[in-house]
Amino acid sequence: MRGVNTDASLVASLEHALADPHGPELILATGDLVQDESREGYERFRELLGKPGIPVHCLPGNHDSTGMMQEVLSDTPFRFCGIADYPPWRLILLNSKTAGDDGGFLPAHDLELLDQALSTCRDSHVLVALHHQPVAMGSRWLDTVGLRNADEFLAVTDQYPQVRAIVWGHVHQASDQLRNDVRLISTPSTCAQFLPGAENFSLDTRPPGYRWLDLCPDGTLQTSVVWVE
Ligand SMILES: [Fe+2]
Repeated sequence: MRGVNTDASLVASLEHALADPHGPELILATGDLVQDESREGYERFRELLGKPGIPVHCLPGNHDSTGMMQEVLSDTPFRFCGIADYPPWRLILLNSKTAGDDGGFLPAHDLELLDQALSTCRDSHVLVALHHQPVAMGSRWLDTVGLRNADEFLAVTDQYPQVRAIVWGHVHQASDQLRNDVRLISTPSTCAQFLPGAENFSLDTRPPGYRWLDLCPDGTLQTSVVWVE
């Protein structure tokens, strides 16, 4: 895809992360896991990501087949969306994919579930993950396909001071900003990257990448991006 062998770049990224002496305790896969909505694609993903035997939390992106993903990636060690508690942290994974649109949307029912998930963990630190960016990336074409009801989403998270971070995929580039004391973080793709700040669709020359998220007991978050040459 776009000149990258996505299978090889995923394998390289995964091997790189697993070779770290501290190793990952879990994997957060923030959508667009398979481009062609094929069962074989999800089965290959399951084969690769299932090997380390650590939890793999998945959520769908605009290019995913939600049904196929749920079917293939719901059994241990995979988890499809929802709440996952790793005390003192709670992860909340949302499904912002909406049919026939590359932009994202969170239906009222999902916003209610988010509100419930936050109201029942006042003593936790929370990381919310979804596929689409809930704030502008400063890239004209990309910002036409962000989370369409970001205002409604942020109106929920803004009510809960235990929300420490919101993390997304979709934008194929690294970014890290602070909004009301909440870290807003995007992660590079394990295949091709998009050029930050571009008016129109443009690829970046950066290699595949991934991000470490170190969720500290005091609610702070250490993070770094790795580019896999
Ligand atoms: Fe996407």
